[in-house]
Amino acid sequence: MLMKRRCVFYKESRQTKVATADGSSPVFKVRGVHLHEQCLFHSFSLSSISPRRHHIPSTKSFPIPTLYLLTPTLMTSPRKTVLITGCRGIGIGNALAREFHAQGFRVFATARSASQLDDLTALGIEAITLDVTSREQIAAAAAEVASRTGGTLDILVNNAGKACTIPALDATDDDIKGVFETNLFSVVYTCQGFAPLVIKAKGTIVQIGSITQMVPLTFGSLYNATKAALHAFTDTLRVELEPFGVNVTEIITGGVKSNIAGNSKRRLPPTSIYLPVEDAFIARQGTSQDGALDTDAYAKGVVQQLSKSTPPRWYWRGSFVWPIWIITTFFSRGFMHYIRRNTFGMDKLRALVSSGKIKV
Ligand SMILES: NC(=O)c1ccc[n+]([C@@H]2O[C@H](COP(=O)([O-])OP(=O)(O)OC[C@H]3O[C@@H](n4cnc5c(N)ncnc54)[C@H](OP(=O)(O)O)[C@@H]3O)[C@@H](O)[C@H]2O)c1
Repeated sequence: MLMKRRCVFYKESRQTKVATADGSSPVFKVRGVHLHEQCLFHSFSLSSISPRRHHIPSTKSFPIPTLYLLTPTLMTSPRKTVLITGCRGIGIGNALAREFHAQGFRVFATARSASQLDDLTALGIEAITLDVTSREQIAAAAAEVASRTGGTLDILVNNAGKACTIPALDATDDDIKGVFETNLFSVVYTCQGFAPLVIKAKGTIVQIGSITQMVPLTFGSLYNATKAALHAFTDTLRVELEPFGVNVTEIITGGVKSNIAGNSKRRLPPTSIYLPVEDAFIARQGTSQDGALDTDAYAKGVVQQLSKSTPPRWYWRGSFVWPIWIITTFFSRGFMHYIRRNTFGMDKLRALVSSGKIKV
């Protein structure tokens, strides 16, 4: 009987485009019910809007809000909302915004200036100005999202971040404060700023972490430290938000194509004890992009996981994640040190020091 009804409905639901006199969004006639074009791209199946099942009077034109009120299917599955930080450019944030949008989410993409996101607004994504280091801008962005969604946010993605490649002993105050401010403190600020919306939605907070939190990647001490701290912060935040029904997910990210390495090559300060291996230091800048995973492929995997009713607490994605997972899961910390200790000129430096060619 059910099969028969479905078949009949399919046959009868052949869409007929109805011209609109005022040139507004075209309307489709589906079994006597008129649907505005955007509805057809909504994440519900046409077979679920049978007038008979949901008591929609036929031969009447309904704008979208009316349909929300009238159809139980739409009432129970409104578009989920997601806000992503750091969406400017060719990186992970931009790809995530496009993929979430493609999967039917309502996306709030943010960047230091909303005008930097024209490529995303052209797709129908909503752009909001947000420099993540500014608590004022976070408060304003949260208020803006609340006013547009009725006070909720299903997913907050803390993506904005920056690299910092410099020997630990050569780092300037700007290096130290800059990378911690962007990669850690700002994440704390945004979690605090958007928490009321996410709690109201019983939603998910997502941190874009890094495998470098557990890999002693030479000349990356500060960046690695921010991601290790982010990991610890995230694990505890998860415990503190669980009573409120909020999930916290860390994407433990390997290499992904992006602009994180930039194009400029930094030189060492003239006082650096690493000058004998400066060529290795210069080569090290940009190595995160060697063999990196395609950004869109990364975004697809991440959005798939975050679309689950209960997203995973940790999700590994990007190049090199498997070997790192295996080493950190099954081997001792000493093994990780052993395989990294001679990278980026450290073997050469050790030889120079032990032969007395470098005086310390
Ligand atoms: N790519 C990788 O291999 C990799 C690996 C592990 C983890 N990650 C993490 O992935 C995240 C995204 O990085 P990505 O690889 O996509 O690099 P990216 O291409 O450099 O993108 C970083 C984004 O963050 C934005 N941003 C930086 N500071 C900001 C601020 N104060 N306010 C607002 N936006 C800000 C940047 O905007 P501007 O251009 O305006 O600065 C840019 O849009 C970072 O957290 C990074 O640590 C990346």
